[in-house]
Amino acid sequence: METLKGKNILIIGATGGIGSQTAMLLKGSGANLFLTGRDATKLGQIASDCKVAADNTFILDISNAAVYQLKEKYFQQLSTIDILINAAGIGIIKTMETLDEQDFLRSLNYNLYAPFLLLKAFLPAMKELKKGLIINIPGVLGKVPMAGAAAYSASKYGLVGMMQSVREELKRTDIRITNLFLGGVDSPFGTTSGSQNDQQTPKPLVLAAACRVLAKWCCSLLITRLFNIMFFDKTRYLSCLNIWQFVFVL
Ligand SMILES: NC(=O)c1ccc[n+]([C@@H]2O[C@H](COP(=O)([O-])OP(=O)(O)OC[C@H]3O[C@@H](n4cnc5c(N)ncnc54)[C@H](OP(=O)(O)O)[C@@H]3O)[C@@H](O)[C@H]2O)c1
Repeated sequence: METLKGKNILIIGATGGIGSQTAMLLKGSGANLFLTGRDATKLGQIASDCKVAADNTFILDISNAAVYQLKEKYFQQLSTIDILINAAGIGIIKTMETLDEQDFLRSLNYNLYAPFLLLKAFLPAMKELKKGLIINIPGVLGKVPMAGAAAYSASKYGLVGMMQSVREELKRTDIRITNLFLGGVDSPFGTTSGSQNDQQTPKPLVLAAACRVLAKWCCSLLITRLFNIMFFDKTRYLSCLNIWQFVFVL
C-alpha cells in the first residue's frame, strides 16, 4: 500500500462533518494538508486540531473566482497536488411542491458546478505528473432515486456522470477518480449554514436507499452464482438450489 507520508492533500469542505473527520484521520499520516471551508471560526479550529498552519487554509465559498484564488494560494504553499478530496456540498431535500428554482440551481451550483471548477483548477497539475487521486462524495443518492431528492439527486447523478467521463479521459495516466456512495452519515448535513433554510435530509430514507443498493447487489450476486452453477456445474446446481436462494432472488 502507498504511504501518505509527504503527500500533498487538499480537503474542500474541511469544516463539515465528513471533511473534518477526514482531516483528523489524516492528521498523523505525515501528509501535508491544505484545508478549506466557508466558516472561518470552524476552519481555524479544525486547522489547529490537525496542526495545520494558517497559511495552509483558505476560506472558500465555492464560486468561479474563489476557486482560482484557492488555486493560487494552494500552489504558493505546496508545489504539487497528490490528493483532492471534495467533501463540500449541500443537501436540499424537498418535494416538487416546495422545491423552487433557486433550490434547484443552488444544488447544481454547489454539488456539480463546484466540482467542475475544482477539476479545472487542479487537474492540470495532476496531469503534468500523470498521477493523483480525486475523491468526491455523491452518496447513495447519486445512484438510487429517493422521493424529495429531485434537486439533490440531479446534482449528484450529474457529478457521477461527469467524474466517470473524466475517468475515461484519464485512462492512460495514474490519475484515479473515486466516487464514494455513502449512505446516511451522522453529520450536520442539511442543517449547516449552506442549507439552513432547507429541510433536514431524512436519514432513514437515505438508509433505505442504501439498503436497496445492497439488496440489488446481493440479488445480482445470487443470480450470477445460480447462473454459473446451472450452466457450468449441474451437480452443484442440484445441491445448492435450496429455498433460501429462491427467497433472496425473489
Ligand atoms: N451526511 C450524509 O448523510 C451524506 C451522505 C452521502 C453523501 N454526503 C455528501 O458528503 C459531503 C459532505 O457531507 P457532510 O455530511 O460532511 O456535510 P456537512 O457537515 O453539512 O458539511 C458540508 C461542507 O460543505 C461546505 N460547503 C457547503 N456549501 C459550500 C459552499 N458554497 N462553498 C464552500 N463550501 C461549502 C461546508 O462549509 P461550512 O461548514 O464552512 O459552511 C462544509 O464544510 C456532501 O457532498 C454530501 O452531499 C453526505
